[in-house]
Amino acid sequence: MTETYRAMLCRRLGPPELLEDAQLPRRGLQPGEVRVAIRAAGINFPDLLQIAGEYQHKPSLPFVPGFEAAGEIVETAPDVKEEYKAGDAVILRLRGGGYAEEAVTRAETLLPKPDDWSFEEAAAFPVAAITAWTALVQRGRLRAGETLLVLGAGGGTGLAAVTLGARLGARVVAVASSEDKRGAAREAGATLCLDPAQPDWWRDVRADVVFDPVGGALFDQAFRALAPAGRWLVIGFAGGASPAPAANRLLLREVELIGVRAGEQGRRNPAAGAEQEKALRAWLVSSQGRPRLGAVYQLDQAGAALRRLADRMATGKIVLRVG
Ligand SMILES: NC(=O)c1ccc[n+]([C@@H]2O[C@H](COP(=O)([O-])OP(=O)(O)OC[C@H]3O[C@@H](n4cnc5c(N)ncnc54)[C@H](OP(=O)(O)O)[C@@H]3O)[C@@H](O)[C@H]2O)c1
Repeated sequence: MTETYRAMLCRRLGPPELLEDAQLPRRGLQPGEVRVAIRAAGINFPDLLQIAGEYQHKPSLPFVPGFEAAGEIVETAPDVKEEYKAGDAVILRLRGGGYAEEAVTRAETLLPKPDDWSFEEAAAFPVAAITAWTALVQRGRLRAGETLLVLGAGGGTGLAAVTLGARLGARVVAVASSEDKRGAAREAGATLCLDPAQPDWWRDVRADVVFDPVGGALFDQAFRALAPAGRWLVIGFAGGASPAPAANRLLLREVELIGVRAGEQGRRNPAAGAEQEKALRAWLVSSQGRPRLGAVYQLDQAGAALRRLADRMATGKIVLRVG
């Protein structure tokens, strides 16, 4: 084994093109850890925010971005037993470091890769899936027969919410800006797909639950589609601004505005974390809802891959192929 491995390094905060192709020193394993040779890394909107210095979690410089990946275990600490051994194909949930040839992580954070999924599909799974599940089930209490409105429905978290919402028996209405994204949402289970550029697109929608990873200008329009006593799930602000709804609008229709932090939820509340874990594992063996890959780039093209996401050109997930 060589003493170094390749990674895309953020030395300065700013646009994603600043990421540098670097060699980093390999470190030894601590108890409970495994070393994984990464074969693919998922790209997420929060990576862009973190590289720009605008994400809630700010690692010290330099750092390697990447919250999710998939690969093969190459080494385990002596105390790691039972479920994992060298050669196993796994999915990694990381607090950073996915844009690299390898990662060292705790064994209990791994998920087994389904045999019939590619490494690229597996790498694209955990962030969007846990966000959708935490939002719709844990926070949103979505029930079969309800109407779910998904904004940004052709994006990473949006498509996962469409997939899961349909599986939970909701009637899913998808909002997305291009025919390609609306087509993907339709394939994932949406029964009605709307173009937010159309005037009054919201007029005939009465949503019990709204999944909103976009915010910005879309918020005011989509809020009119929320039914009385509806639940609005605040996921993120890909559209830019964080909306500031007047409290009287909540009061008049008795609606709930619900914040969602999927990763934090599990860290803060172990029981909730255990439920998330169970749900992700069940999703992986269900053979339903495998991630839709919009594009695959090489590791050293991370800047271009992130630019595509920032330019709103990604349908589904973008993945970096490693090696
Ligand atoms: N709360 C949590 O736990 C959690 C977890 C993961 C991600 N997030 C957040 O959720 C948001 C979306 O993440 P994602 O992975 O779904 O991103 P994504 O794949 O890029 O999808 C976001 C969607 O937002 C829409 N959009 C509108 N204006 C945009 C703009 N100016 N730039 C980019 N997209 C724009 C796009 O849809 P249209 O083109 O159809 O408008 C795009 O498909 C981010 O803010 C992220 O930080 C939150």
